[in-house]
Amino acid sequence: MTANSIGKAFVVTTFGESHGRCVGAVIDGCPAGLPLSEKEVQAELDKRIPKKPEITSGRIEKDIVEILSGTFEGHTTGAPICMLVWNKEAVPSEYDIIKNLPRPGHADYTAYVKYGGFNDYRGGGRFSGRITASFVMAGAVAKKLLRLFGVEVLAYTKAIGGIEMKETPTLEKIREETYKNPVRCPDPVCAEAIEKAIVEARKEGDSLGGIVECIALNVPAGVGEPVFDALDADIAKAIFAVPAVKGVEFGAGFKAATMKGSENNDPYVISDDKVVTLTNNAGGVLGGLSNGMPVVVRVAIKPTPSIAKKQKTVNLAEFKEAILQVKGRHDPCIVPKAIPAIESMVAIVLADHMIRAGIIPRILVGKGNVGKNK
Ligand SMILES: Cc1cc2nc3c(=O)[nH]c(=O)nc-3n(C[C@H](O)[C@H](O)[C@H](O)COP(=O)(O)O)c2cc1C
Repeated sequence: MTANSIGKAFVVTTFGESHGRCVGAVIDGCPAGLPLSEKEVQAELDKRIPKKPEITSGRIEKDIVEILSGTFEGHTTGAPICMLVWNKEAVPSEYDIIKNLPRPGHADYTAYVKYGGFNDYRGGGRFSGRITASFVMAGAVAKKLLRLFGVEVLAYTKAIGGIEMKETPTLEKIREETYKNPVRCPDPVCAEAIEKAIVEARKEGDSLGGIVECIALNVPAGVGEPVFDALDADIAKAIFAVPAVKGVEFGAGFKAATMKGSENNDPYVISDDKVVTLTNNAGGVLGGLSNGMPVVVRVAIKPTPSIAKKQKTVNLAEFKEAILQVKGRHDPCIVPKAIPAIESMVAIVLADHMIRAGIIPRILVGKGNVGKNK
């Protein structure tokens, strides 16, 4: 297993499992001089869990972040930043049943095969949505860093269970309304309908999926490293690390395949002394490089695999077919909790690429006078 790190300049390594002792992240490469406190990381972590028991898993972790290294006197030092939260509400016995009966739709079977049955299956182990707490901790630092350079990353629920926002929300609406309701949809009417649908699905022993839209504002043009570290490719890869993500599209996305060139091309104009485009079908990325327009990504999230309905599976120990009814505490819909995780992954990739491009320097505010010491 050597694939728990992402980034080349702002390198994020995550660790921990659903029912292990903790989940956390190490950031290597964060510039020195960034003001950073546990309070700021905590504020991002607190966005993860909707405060409405009906639409979230019964496992409510307090998730109090501890920054173990990499900061001194309120600033990052340039050394690795290690952050974690302890798992306090784990109930491993809830997962005895899935030891040999893999849940359809979850990673139990694939992990069992890959790791020869040594994988920690409790709560999905390393494949649990809980690992996104470490994404959010690292994302909090990336977001703070990006904000210094004017970049803002926003995500919101666009649709759940086929109930979709009718109009594209304004940026003000996304900023002000998204976290006001438990389903993280900036349209209050749509949010209410979605909430009802989630409660209904849970009652039926079922679950719902949905679509998240994420927008990164003020990314300067020319960020990205073609050809293999193209900005869109790296963002897609990072988002696919969020469990339950099944699709990522930029701008017009799959719809572009049905458009004519004359419809899909974004015409250039000059506005406020800047080159901009009149439309944004490209989603802010051309040739793997940002073009200065908002980077717009839409993410498809599947319905939660663990449902109360009876499902067919196999008993891996006895090698025979079986019926499974999943117990335990599960989210009837993953989308609301995935919002801060997706924002975080986009922020982590942008921070990495902006450092690589030299837009974000390695030292944010110089303190010492090296000249005098020579
Ligand atoms: C924030 C979050 C919470 C999740 N909660 C659950 C859950 O309660 N029950 C469950 O079965 N899957 C949950 N998942 C999804 C599984 O972790 C995921 O479907 C599984 O690891 C298989 O990976 P894949 O869907 O990406 O193929 C959650 C995912 C995220 C991002």
